[in-house]
Amino acid sequence: MSQPFASRPLVIAPSILASDFAKLGEEVRAVDQAGADWIHLDPMDGHFVPNITFGPDAIKAMRPHSKKIFDAHLMIAPCDPYLEAFAKAGCDQITVHAEAGPHLHRSLQAIRTLGKKAGVSINPATPVSAIEHIIDVVDIVLVMSINPGFGGQSFIPSALEKISQVRAMCAGRPIDIEVDGGVTAANAAEIAAAGANALVAGSAVFKGGTMDSYKTNISAIRNAAASARGEAI
Ligand code: DX5
Ligand code: ZN
Repeated sequence: MSQPFASRPLVIAPSILASDFAKLGEEVRAVDQAGADWIHLDPMDGHFVPNITFGPDAIKAMRPHSKKIFDAHLMIAPCDPYLEAFAKAGCDQITVHAEAGPHLHRSLQAIRTLGKKAGVSINPATPVSAIEHIIDVVDIVLVMSINPGFGGQSFIPSALEKISQVRAMCAGRPIDIEVDGGVTAANAAEIAAAGANALVAGSAVFKGGTMDSYKTNISAIRNAAASARGEAI
């Protein structure tokens, strides 16, 4: 059976949020070697979301530990004053929230002007129609399947319908469809079948706390998603 949703490569993106912050560089190296495609980074400001994590300086310190794509998911508002700092810190792609400011189109253009891939993220309460008019200036659509701020929450099932809607909106465009929150080996197949090609996972990757467990955890998510896409494992 042909799988129209499999047009973009499958990506597993471990979220550093679930790693041991006392050894960030080591953790980045570990998930890199364990098979991560992208390294997902979650700056939070205690304002847009009710938690505070890390900013550009911490990302700059992690950068030498991997050559993989640094995928920054900014949960900060305003975001515009900090885009250049995240770009200079070594982020390859920068995703901003549709809810984070009144000038989303401008923010996305600014990211592209910095030479980086531009992503837009939508919270669980935000309809897919919110990104209809900026779809031509994005490289990534990130569908949140939890309320952002914390790892370890359960996947909100209505995200699946939103992923399908985003897939229809993105048809024919070179856009990665990313899903973030509560992703596990148990739901990776239905997420991939709905049309997401980039799966972010924090707790499901870092559980176990060792390189071997990261390898097993990443493979389990990858294999579940790959078979749903009709790809050989
Ligand atoms: C939460 C972050 C996620 C988080 C996901 O706001 O955007 O990237 O790390 O964690 P899990 O996979 O544990 O839900
Ligand atoms: Zn994230």
